[in-house]
Amino acid sequence: MAESELIHLAADISFLHTDYLWRMPGSWIGYPYYGTSEFYEDIARIADRGVMDMLFFGDTGGTPEDFGGSHEAVVRYGAKWPRHDMTPMIPIMSKAAPGVGFALTMSTTYQHPFHCARVFNGLDHVTRGRIAWNAVTSAYKNEAANYGFDVMMDHDERYLRAQEFLKVACALWDSVEPDVLILDRENGIYADPGKVHRIDFRGKYFNVRGPLPALPSPQHRPVIIQAGLSGPGLSLAASYAELQFSTRRTPATMKQHRAALDAKLAEVNRKPRDVGILWSVRVQVADSASEAQEKERRYLEAIPPQAGLVEMSAQFNVDFSKAKSGMRLADFAEQVKAEKGNYGSFEELLKTVDPKQTVEEFGRRFLVDRVLVASGTPKEIVDKLETLHYESGANGGFILARGFSALDNIREFVDFVVPELQRRGLSKKKYSGPTLRENLNN
Ligand SMILES: Cc1cc2nc3c(=O)[nH]c(=O)nc-3n(C[C@H](O)[C@H](O)[C@H](O)COP(=O)(O)O)c2cc1C
Repeated sequence: MAESELIHLAADISFLHTDYLWRMPGSWIGYPYYGTSEFYEDIARIADRGVMDMLFFGDTGGTPEDFGGSHEAVVRYGAKWPRHDMTPMIPIMSKAAPGVGFALTMSTTYQHPFHCARVFNGLDHVTRGRIAWNAVTSAYKNEAANYGFDVMMDHDERYLRAQEFLKVACALWDSVEPDVLILDRENGIYADPGKVHRIDFRGKYFNVRGPLPALPSPQHRPVIIQAGLSGPGLSLAASYAELQFSTRRTPATMKQHRAALDAKLAEVNRKPRDVGILWSVRVQVADSASEAQEKERRYLEAIPPQAGLVEMSAQFNVDFSKAKSGMRLADFAEQVKAEKGNYGSFEELLKTVDPKQTVEEFGRRFLVDRVLVASGTPKEIVDKLETLHYESGANGGFILARGFSALDNIREFVDFVVPELQRRGLSKKKYSGPTLRENLNN
């Protein structure tokens, strides 16, 4: 995907309304809270000003009950709750900002490929070619229960279904040829039936006749993102994705991830540059390193002590309210594996945190430490991003994630960090084309 070595820039705006960020100074001031579009339109304008590639909405359609066996804590603290469907926000944001792209999450475990192909075709038309699909297999119990599963589908089976889902969705996007429209007013010929094809797909999970009853969209199909970290996850990404998200936290594990993905790509005759990786990073901009630390301290203070454990429970499908004093993260490894939580991310934490830290101590820092951190002055931040980018193969870029509140944090990033990136020739000064795919490629 990313043919150039430029740093591509995205922001995860899934949790701006929750995760204690609403308590931060500079967050939501002067905007109606969550339900209306003005806030999101302004974020899109700011991202556009920074020539950022993409704004991302993650999604899980559930209310986690993993901590203490009920939704009590997640609702009390606003931990990933509430979760609106953000699809309707995208056309409005795309109207407000002509350059930035948008990524939306849809589950291959709970949705149907025909519905998915249709929705993303519509979004690609209305954004004029600026839509991406984060194809997820959904690892959360309460979400499974909302879609009628008493027991969550097994991890590897979810990926088998996802392989078939992607195959069908792509066949549907290919089912109508680009030059189908004739619009011959004189002879009353609307379109060429020879350019519209049934797909007649019969598989293990889906039977879909096709064709998609739609005109091909500007990008033909959305930019496909797949953030799987496991073997089957990386295989799915290697077959279909143009971008991956990753939460690796050290140059060594970043390199390992890149190498694992490249090996999977080689198996399906694709090359490393066909799939870029956006590394999750928390950016804390300040006038000095000590001021950045003070900002982080204020954010940590805004997080209730139990909140990290609540978040960890939702992520890993394990009840951390049962953690006894002195227990370590490693004590929960078997349980996370057995509960089919996000074991890939958990393993990364095991490799990278101080093994002597107790779960309580770790929980406190979970929301700030989970991903890479670039903190300090714009120069210090860009030094770090530049080093990480080249050490990990200069093939993708960064997605701002975790602990970043809007509007202030995204504005600070665009006003102070992006100019330094641009000055060093590391990021784009203008959009290279009208579609998201063109921008990611250049
Ligand atoms: C940055 C990032 C964003 C993600 N967003 C979502 C999401 O919105 N919804 C979801 O169900 N999973 C999401 N995931 C989880 C991944 O799709 C994937 O399940 C996870 O990384 C574990 O890998 P595995 O499925 O191969 O075990 C995200 C992962 C990362 C790293």
